[in-house]
Amino acid sequence: MTPARKTILLTGKNGQVGWELQRALAPLGRVVALGSGELDLADGEAIRRAVRETRPAVIVNAAAYTAVDQAESEAALAHAVNGAAPRILAEEAANCGALLVHYSTDYVFDGKKTGPYAESDPCAPLGVYGASKLAGEQGIQASACKHLIFRTSWVYGSRGKNFLLTMQRLSRERETLRVVADQFGAPTWSRLIAEASAQVLSQVPRHPSPDSLWGLYHLTCAGRTSWHGFTQAILDLAPPPRPPRLEAIPTAAYPLPAKRPANSVLSNDKLQRAFGLALPDWHAALALCLDASG
Ligand SMILES: NC(=O)c1ccc[n+]([C@@H]2O[C@H](COP(=O)([O-])OP(=O)(O)OC[C@H]3O[C@@H](n4cnc5c(N)ncnc54)[C@H](OP(=O)(O)O)[C@@H]3O)[C@@H](O)[C@H]2O)c1
Repeated sequence: MTPARKTILLTGKNGQVGWELQRALAPLGRVVALGSGELDLADGEAIRRAVRETRPAVIVNAAAYTAVDQAESEAALAHAVNGAAPRILAEEAANCGALLVHYSTDYVFDGKKTGPYAESDPCAPLGVYGASKLAGEQGIQASACKHLIFRTSWVYGSRGKNFLLTMQRLSRERETLRVVADQFGAPTWSRLIAEASAQVLSQVPRHPSPDSLWGLYHLTCAGRTSWHGFTQAILDLAPPPRPPRLEAIPTAAYPLPAKRPANSVLSNDKLQRAFGLALPDWHAALALCLDASG
């Protein structure tokens, strides 16, 4: 008899990472994918109902309040979705014995470190979004549930709201692009995050001591660049008909409601040691993404 396929409950199915996860998780089980229309993560009771009705073996939480600047004036909602909801998911996961996979952000750091951040480095978020995501991590860690938290950074892909698509649009509309050159990080393609997550999940059942795996991992593309460097690569790899002039500006010349870390490069060593997985360099990944989008 064919063994029953396990159920994977996926939130945020319409997001950059969630959309890619629908495909990447499909070989691993029966994916029950929900968007905000089917499950509002600001509604704690709705979260508990969804988990109890689905009885998943794995919960993958790709939903988040990701509007970094808007969060400064919508702190309660950001904390409900990013802070409280993951804790409730973790409690429900513990109740039904499910594994919880969750995503967090480089914006938990203040950016003052000169080298790449390790998972053990102290967090000091500069804004509401980072603080709300850190609260989510802590809620999961304080629970008794089996969990994998993946901190990623500068996510882009072929759909959704992201820097790549914004720059491609602006490069068609404007003669000059003025882009911040003093914030450093690792742009990371949403598809690679989803595929690495699925690979990790496929390793868990075969691992001799899966309990040793639970915890926090950094999961980003390798290398580092600035937003200006990222824009230059976008223009080089997929030049628009009339390429705009690209100007490097300091953060101070582009004030936004939320402060960003000057350095949010994450070390991926722990992920590589635990699972033998490493994402490619950000530039190679961008080329793959642009190739895939035609
Ligand atoms: N984007 C980045 O640059 C970045 C950087 C570092 C870490 N991350 C983290 O990576 C993960 C995935 O991010 P992403 O870029 O894929 O985000 P995204 O494209 O903004 O998608 C987030 C999804 O969350 C859903 N959502 C928002 N509020 C919700 C609510 N109240 N109830 C239920 N669903 C809600 C939205 O659903 P609907 O579309 O259905 O409304 C949206 O599709 C998140 O944990 C994020 O914090 C992202």
